[in-house]
Parts: sequence; structure tokens; C-alpha cells
Amino acid sequence: MALISLSPAQHQALALLQQQLRRWNSRCNLTRLVEGDDYWVAQVQDSLWPLSRMSPPFRGPLQGVDVGTGGGIPGLVLAVALPESRWVLVDSVQRKCAAVQAMAGALGLQDRVEVVCERAELLGRDARYRGRFDVAVARGVAPAPVVAEYLAPLLGSGGLALLYRGRWSGADHRALQQAARQLGCRIRARERCVLPANRGQRHVLILAAETPCPAPYPRAVGIPARRPLATASSPPTLEANP
Ligand SMILES: C[S@@+](CC[C@H](N)C(=O)[O-])C[C@H]1O[C@@H](n2cnc3c(N)ncnc32)[C@H](O)[C@@H]1O
Repeated sequence: MALISLSPAQHQALALLQQQLRRWNSRCNLTRLVEGDDYWVAQVQDSLWPLSRMSPPFRGPLQGVDVGTGGGIPGLVLAVALPESRWVLVDSVQRKCAAVQAMAGALGLQDRVEVVCERAELLGRDARYRGRFDVAVARGVAPAPVVAEYLAPLLGSGGLALLYRGRWSGADHRALQQAARQLGCRIRARERCVLPANRGQRHVLILAAETPCPAPYPRAVGIPARRPLATASSPPTLEANP
């Protein structure tokens, strides 16, 4: 598996993040994936592998947003890997946001990482955040068409949304295509990788913003999840075949 290369200092920062996750896990349940391959493969490599598929590669002072960051994954890992990038990490759960804020500080990322405790549906209507980002990411937050509605309004012109997914079917692909069209985006690419240490198959779906996201989106809090713009109507297949 092609990986992006990390400097010893970046590797050290990720080891420090692991310590921080252990520490904060004992106070509030952030993630169970903190030891050995659970951390280095299922968290770190899973966060980073899509970077190796970006063409052109992500470089320079890009503005990113991680929606539903939970314990700061993938946002904190991406902030470490892309040293000129600035990130807004968003979650609706206050205790998670407090932990992520403290972890970002411990990693010395406080100048490049802002933590916002907010619903994605409200962030996407806030003029400080709507249409502002070069890249928007989400892992493990909701079905893909719902995540697309959270991320698309945040993208600026030429912005990209990266939807981290596990298995991916033709029905998933068609549903995302349908949602993306309504949001002024198109699916630019679908990338796949098999993580080592039996961590299984992952996909990333890359959406490109083609026009500004239409004003009705995101809809009111809870509506994107209750009434997704599209659903994968047929049962998922083992292998994507869009
Ligand atoms: C399963 S966790 C995944 C966390 C992290 N991204 C990861 O991959 O480990 C999903 C997170 O998304 C947050 N979330 C779900 N819906 C949200 C919304 N509409 N707005 C903000 N946060 C949301 C939840 O609070 C939760 O922390």
C-alpha cells in the first residue's frame, strides 16, 4: 500500500496523539482503537492513505474541515501530516470537542486547529464556514448521501470532499451520485485500498464542487439523516461496480 512519508517529528506527534487518546479515553469514551495496529493501522493509516491518491497532491496552506471528528480522527492526523494546513474540527458533542481541543493543544496544533462544537447542518449555514474550505472530510459519521449534504455546503470553489467509507457498492455509488448532483457536486473519483493487519477494505469517495451549493442545503438539523437526498436501494454488493 502506498503511504505518504512522515518525518520523524510527525511520527513522534502521532505517538503523542496516541498517548493523548489513551489519557482522554479514561475520562470520556472517544475510541477503542488506541493500541498497536488498532491505532497505527485502523486510525493513522486509515486517515492518511487517501492523501497518496490525490492528484495533484495536497500541498501548502489549505483550509480543511473534519465533520463529526469524534476523537479528532481523521482531522488531527491530517493536520500533523500536512504541516501548512489549517483545520476546523467539528462535532456536536461537547465533551468530545473539549477533549479534541486539549489534544490539539498538547500536540502544539492550537494555531492551526480550531474546534467547533456544532451540528454540521448549522455550520453549513454559518457565513463564517459556508463555502470556505478547500477540503472537507468525514469518517464514520452517516450514510454517504447524508455526509455529502453536510460537506458540500462547506466547500469553496474547486473544493473537494473526501468521504471515508468501508465497503462500497454500485447501489451506494448511484445514491451518492444522485445526492451529489443536487448539491452542485460530482463524484470525481472512487479510490480503494486494503489496509494491512487484516483491517480490511476501505474506500474514499472524492466529490468535487462544480457550482456553489444550492441555498436550501444543508436542510434543518436532523432532516438530512431522516430524509436522505438518496438511498442505496439495492443491497450492497461485496465489490463496488459503479
Ligand atoms: C462514529 S463517530 C466517528 C468519529 C471519527 N470521525 C472517527 O472516524 O473515529 C461519529 C461522530 O460524528 C458526530 N456527528 C454525527 N452527526 C453529526 C452532525 N450532524 N453534526 C456534528 N457532528 C455529528 C458524532 O457526535 C460522533 O462523534
